[in-house]
Amino acid sequence: MILIDGKKTADEIKKEIAEEVKLIVASGKRAPHLAAVLVGHDGGSETYVAFKIKDCEEVGFRSSLVRFDDDVTEAELLAKVHELNSDPDLDGFIVQLPLPKHISEQKVIEAIDARKDVDGFHPENVGRLVLGMPAFLSATPFGIVELLKRYQIPTSGKNCVIVGRSNIVGRPLSILMSQKAVNATVTVAHSQTKDLAKVCAEADILIAALGSPEFIKADMVKQGAVVIDVGTTRVNAPETKSGWRLKGDVKFDEVAPKCSHITPVPGGVGPMTRVSLLQNTLLAAKLKK
Ligand code: GUN
Repeated sequence: MILIDGKKTADEIKKEIAEEVKLIVASGKRAPHLAAVLVGHDGGSETYVAFKIKDCEEVGFRSSLVRFDDDVTEAELLAKVHELNSDPDLDGFIVQLPLPKHISEQKVIEAIDARKDVDGFHPENVGRLVLGMPAFLSATPFGIVELLKRYQIPTSGKNCVIVGRSNIVGRPLSILMSQKAVNATVTVAHSQTKDLAKVCAEADILIAALGSPEFIKADMVKQGAVVIDVGTTRVNAPETKSGWRLKGDVKFDEVAPKCSHITPVPGGVGPMTRVSLLQNTLLAAKLKK
């Protein structure tokens, strides 16, 4: 069994990005610049955004954090999005989700200029992905495909089962995995799938992205399968300093011995998701110049 080290792979990619940034700056251009918009004080969102800012510093990007309180109006947030869209000193930005209930996430995403949508959430980027055109790819699917590539895991003609059909992970990943560059035969399973265990057990590549801790058990996994765990649920852990711990969607201890490759949680898909945002921001900066 090979443990797929997302942290090590992400660190390698960060080094490659940092080299490119040095060349850009040496040529007299400014460094790529990413902004993050954070509404409210949700613990998870605060952590994710702090990591994104730290990642930018590590590779030599400029970063900006724009904060709003929970009671910001939709109109105020949309006005900020328009301002960021037209800021020539900014290459890309993200609005951290989820947003408070009184704000339409869809409206906000649609207001982002698709050329600055480094999250790859705008309908134009999703549409371009579906058509196989160059697009900003949603960070987690992008990171997973990159991991498979860098570990030289064969995908052509393989049976890939994705459990979960979210707009951010399952759906775009199903499209990427079926494209000619990857050539997998893809099944998207979800809460209404009949005989889910049997469907999963037929997968050469099983990708769990449903957000249910330890849902995938050993009897749902074929001997020799590649298992990618996208789950990152915070569960109570009084023994830790923070009081919580991340749990994946896969019951790692019993599944790992059956796998040819498996990603751990933490340290698997998560670091790759973070680095994909940097890759998209670098691309946005290059396309602009
Ligand atoms: N919330 C959880 N994941 C993400 C992400 O990748 N981007 C944004 N903007 N919000 C998120």
